[in-house]
Amino acid sequence: THQWRGIIEEYRDRLPVTAETPVVTLREGGTPLVPARVLSERTGCEVHLKVEGANPTGSFKDRGMTMAITHAKEQGAQAVICASTGNTSASAAAYAVRAGMVCAVLVPQGKIALGKMGQALVYGARILQVDGNFDDCLTLARGLSEKYPVALVNSVNPYRIEGQKTASFEVVDALGDAPDIHVLPVGNAGNITAYWRGYQEYAETGDASRTPRMFGFQASGSAPIVRGEPVKDPHTIATAIRIGNPASWEFAERARDESRGLIDEVTDRQILSAYRLLASQEGVFVEPASAASVAGLLKAAEQGLVDPGQRIVCTVTGNGLKDPDWAVAGAPQPVTVPVDADAAAERLGMA
Ligand code: F0G
Repeated sequence: THQWRGIIEEYRDRLPVTAETPVVTLREGGTPLVPARVLSERTGCEVHLKVEGANPTGSFKDRGMTMAITHAKEQGAQAVICASTGNTSASAAAYAVRAGMVCAVLVPQGKIALGKMGQALVYGARILQVDGNFDDCLTLARGLSEKYPVALVNSVNPYRIEGQKTASFEVVDALGDAPDIHVLPVGNAGNITAYWRGYQEYAETGDASRTPRMFGFQASGSAPIVRGEPVKDPHTIATAIRIGNPASWEFAERARDESRGLIDEVTDRQILSAYRLLASQEGVFVEPASAASVAGLLKAAEQGLVDPGQRIVCTVTGNGLKDPDWAVAGAPQPVTVPVDADAAAERLGMA
């Protein structure tokens, strides 16, 4: 009776469902909000991590997907489609299984992490690798959904945003009020749109006394919002956010402006440094794109843009196991020892 029931049941009165809606869930949400001691020390603030990698398929997409696939099911859809840099496709594929639907996914060829490809495959999705980037995949997916009987479950689907806004509810429910600042990585810009909506709704109903400033960070090689124009050939090691023309661009700018926040960029080097810090200092293993939020916070703090003593939440969006190459790359190879305690102790520096 104490099990978390998934975001639709937990926040039913704030979501577009009725008593008859056939809820498709893997009991997503209810993710940990973890105090980050080292980041707090570095910034002079009270920093928390919203660990979205703890969702059923390992990313925040599950919050949106339970809503989008539930709605598709309610409408009688038999197939769903998405474009993806990997996490959306993994999530769509899993929820389609629960709903008894066919799932088609379009991914940029050679540019999605192995763990995510493995998920789409094992959940039984129909995968097409597209000779193009994410933006091309999304154009193709939109076109297919207009011409054929298949529901689009990218974040341009409003039900995705509805589901994802629940992360803000959870943050406020855990902290007792909205934080001063909320920090997110930005790719297609659906998630920053969703968080902002969630915070605004809680403030409107008096469940929070205020809204936070929204800070979003793009990877430098894929930073169209920062540049003020689409990026034709986006690049970054953070493949999840390798996006040159975000679908929710205007909503992201609105979240930034209405909250007196900012949208800035972080380099791949800054992303990887935050990625290693999170794992080795905070014990939280995330995928590179997720570390963009933390890299951004550290950058903003260094620039003096963050007043000390503020309460800050960084969302870390995906599990590190999705893309383990970056954990192994550059790390020393473990040494091999015989089955001998003294030899092992010597190698461990204990002898
Ligand atoms: N972090 C991760 C791990 C992601 O997978 C994504 C987006 C983002 C951040 C950015 O979120 O797009 O709402 O601004 N991944 C999408 C996908 C594009 O296809 O999985 P956003």
